[in-house]
Amino acid sequence: MAMLHSAMSLGAGAVAGVKQNLYDQYGPVLERALGASVEYLQGMEERPVRTEADAVAGLEGLRGPLQDSPEDPEVILEQLDRLGSPATVAKNSGRYFGFVNGGCLPAAMGAAWLVSAWDQNASFRVQSPTAAVLEETALEWTRELLGLPSGTGGAVVTGATMANFSALAAARHALYERLGWDVENHGLMGAPELRVVTGGEAHPAVTKALGLLGLGRNRVVRVPVDGQGRMRADALPALDERTILCLQAGNVNTGAFDPATEIVPAARAAGAWVHVDGAFGLWATASPQYRHLTVGFEQADSWATDGHKWPNSGYDCGLALVREPQQLRAAMSIDAPYLVTGEQREPADYTPEFSRRARGVELWAALRQLGRRGMGALVERTSAHARRFADGLRAAGFDVLNEVVINQVLVSFGSREKTLRTIEGIQQDGTCWCGSTVWQGRTAMRISVSSWVTTEEDVERSLAAMIRVAREG
Ligand SMILES: Cc1ncc(COP(=O)(O)O)c(C=O)c1O
Repeated sequence: MAMLHSAMSLGAGAVAGVKQNLYDQYGPVLERALGASVEYLQGMEERPVRTEADAVAGLEGLRGPLQDSPEDPEVILEQLDRLGSPATVAKNSGRYFGFVNGGCLPAAMGAAWLVSAWDQNASFRVQSPTAAVLEETALEWTRELLGLPSGTGGAVVTGATMANFSALAAARHALYERLGWDVENHGLMGAPELRVVTGGEAHPAVTKALGLLGLGRNRVVRVPVDGQGRMRADALPALDERTILCLQAGNVNTGAFDPATEIVPAARAAGAWVHVDGAFGLWATASPQYRHLTVGFEQADSWATDGHKWPNSGYDCGLALVREPQQLRAAMSIDAPYLVTGEQREPADYTPEFSRRARGVELWAALRQLGRRGMGALVERTSAHARRFADGLRAAGFDVLNEVVINQVLVSFGSREKTLRTIEGIQQDGTCWCGSTVWQGRTAMRISVSSWVTTEEDVERSLAAMIRVAREG
């Protein structure tokens, strides 16, 4: 009786715990979400890529105290769209070149909707055979596209930071197992020391992962790099079976690749575990034109990459891949009497999380939309756009600081002050969006072309805006 009373007082749209036709509950709000999504995407061409200050100020309308009484989902969606949508960054416009942000392919976006409707917990097969099969398939397709050894397995996680963390947890397990130390159960206190070697330009995500694993952010041996950020093979210290060597395939600033063929065979022969952070760069393997850049990385022991960067699977999706997946399993799996698992692969045995979203589904959909050829073409098209940016900026008299090997460009507009002023001006102009960086002592603008949406016209429009703003300032 009490429940019926509270259900009635909540109103039809907000009934909690009372069975009704589910379409009555979800339909109107999903239709509103669909309409808002379509309108949002249609508006991409017209609006500035940056956010407007008054739109950001409007977000205050989303704060305020949590109300006592339930609210109608449609009202909530209306407000979310009215106040939230205008304050988003127009990442889907094709003229967003910040960080290394991929777009979201239509199949992946549709799949994300379906994943929400399914509301699966992707931890164990018994909770979602669908999530498990799609995740396994996406992992296998990724393995193939990256040219990694058969038998390689792994985990779908939130991004390259967690992918590096997971793969390095497998590395830590494997090296300690050889030393007869059970690191998962006994921890690091009193453990024999491991040594971690990275390049001087390793991404901070790797350093963070090492800190989380108790291996220390600052205990790392950093190998000197060249002017593109590539590890210098001649400067590598002696390696042994207590060493984890972290290489990079695709520097976040320059796009450069460590010289894998010179390093990996010797490192593995010395007994070191070789890990590769290839958040975006490893996908160059999918292109016949760029495949030469990744040769040698396939000989490593583990790899971290992202679905949400070059494959455009939408946020969030990263992949940890390990040559001997049992090492990852040993680092991640746990037992409990209520967990009834079978003979087949259980996703949660390989991931840091237990309950998790079925994020492998969007990657599966994105890779299917692209196909093998489409993934290669995406790498080639975005890299050609990057070259066009570099050529155009050079021709206009500006200094391109990197060899444009893939989809990353670094440009200086002169002094530090002038470069920062120009970047600010470009962001304010709103035609496109690029961020800043400091590359080996020089302040620069970063251009990362990672979205499937970007066209030649987007590049020309953006280039013209960059040059105009730089000349005005
Ligand atoms: C080389 C490299 N590693 C790691 C990361 C971190 O990736 P995520 O943001 O997906 O965790 C990035 C991000 O740009 C990257 O470029």
